[in-house]
Amino acid sequence: MNAPPPAGSTLRPVRIAGTGAYAPAHVLTNRDLEKIVTTTDQWIVERTGMRERRIAAENEAASDLGAEAARRALADAGMAATDVQLLLAATITPDYPFPNTGCIIQSKIGARHAFCMGLEAACSGFVYAVETARHFIATGTVENALVVGTEKMSSILDWTDRTTCVLFGDGAGAAVLRPAKRGRGVVASALGSDGSLSDLLLIPAGGSRRPTSEATVAAREHYLRMNGREVFKHAVTHMVRSARTALHRAGVVISDVRWIIPHQANMRIIRAVAERLGVPLERFVINVERYGNTSGASVAIALDEAARDGRIRDGDLVLMLVFGGGFTWGAMLLEWEKGS
Ligand code: UT7
Repeated sequence: MNAPPPAGSTLRPVRIAGTGAYAPAHVLTNRDLEKIVTTTDQWIVERTGMRERRIAAENEAASDLGAEAARRALADAGMAATDVQLLLAATITPDYPFPNTGCIIQSKIGARHAFCMGLEAACSGFVYAVETARHFIATGTVENALVVGTEKMSSILDWTDRTTCVLFGDGAGAAVLRPAKRGRGVVASALGSDGSLSDLLLIPAGGSRRPTSEATVAAREHYLRMNGREVFKHAVTHMVRSARTALHRAGVVISDVRWIIPHQANMRIIRAVAERLGVPLERFVINVERYGNTSGASVAIALDEAARDGRIRDGDLVLMLVFGGGFTWGAMLLEWEKGS
């Protein structure tokens, strides 16, 4: 099994010092979707728990949503954009194939001293990005990092496919990372991937394997495709397993955890994870009914909501659980320490 980190580790503990989120104004309800594809409000609510989702305006790209979430996270942390040293943007709906969306956000918010990159781990993106960024701080390479999860999922949905288009929404969340002062910050994490299952959730064309052509456009291969049933099973299994691994690495038990923030893909997935972990749903942060699945932004938005409304308090253990295309999955346990 996974051993706890060796005593005397020289890594600095890293905390989340500020959060922010942004969701576009336009609300698309289940009733609205009934007019677009053959579906019903009842089916969507029963099978997913979703009631509405936000849809970005035509002139709003992932970087616009991400920049607003980033500004709010910086304000929350009391930090100027010019002080940001690393800007890491997780997205599967980048403004462009390149340059990376981190660079676009940098220029929008004026984080001119940061080095910027993108990270692609689908719905696991935010946790993967926090885990990556925290190592730059833990090793002393930088003093802070701004991590953004941002998605304009509406731009990659096939609005003629009822099995996918009802499930996703647009939005962004961000977090400022800094060295912890009093507590342990990120206590433990457990990330994993299985690339052999990549064809269960993907956009088939538009990359180097199937470059854009008239044929790929005609076959609607530039839209997200998902085998929902298979994804569902793996999501539950791996979110539960990675939770257990992270808890083991931290040397704590699930009852020590105050809040669990799961990827908001489906209320039934969240319920299954809660049952298997033996945790009442009241200890889960859930907003899937209002945003749908915002992929790499989902956990970041939920974290920001729970931090702002006072649910998460200093000293609380918070467990983020994610699963997404790749497949990728992961758990991250934090000891909450806001303060400046
Ligand atoms: O973020 C990345 C991770 N993504 C996920 O975790 C998503 C995981 N998967 C899921 O959440 C669920 O599998 C879905 C919500 C996608 C589907 O729920 P399900 O209970 O697995 O339904 P199903 O795919 O087995 O479909 C059941 C029926 C089918 O009809 P038949 O074949 O039984 O006649 C579908 O055609 O529901 C039908 N259906 C719909 N009916 C009304 C599928 N989509 C819709 C729809 N409205 N939007």
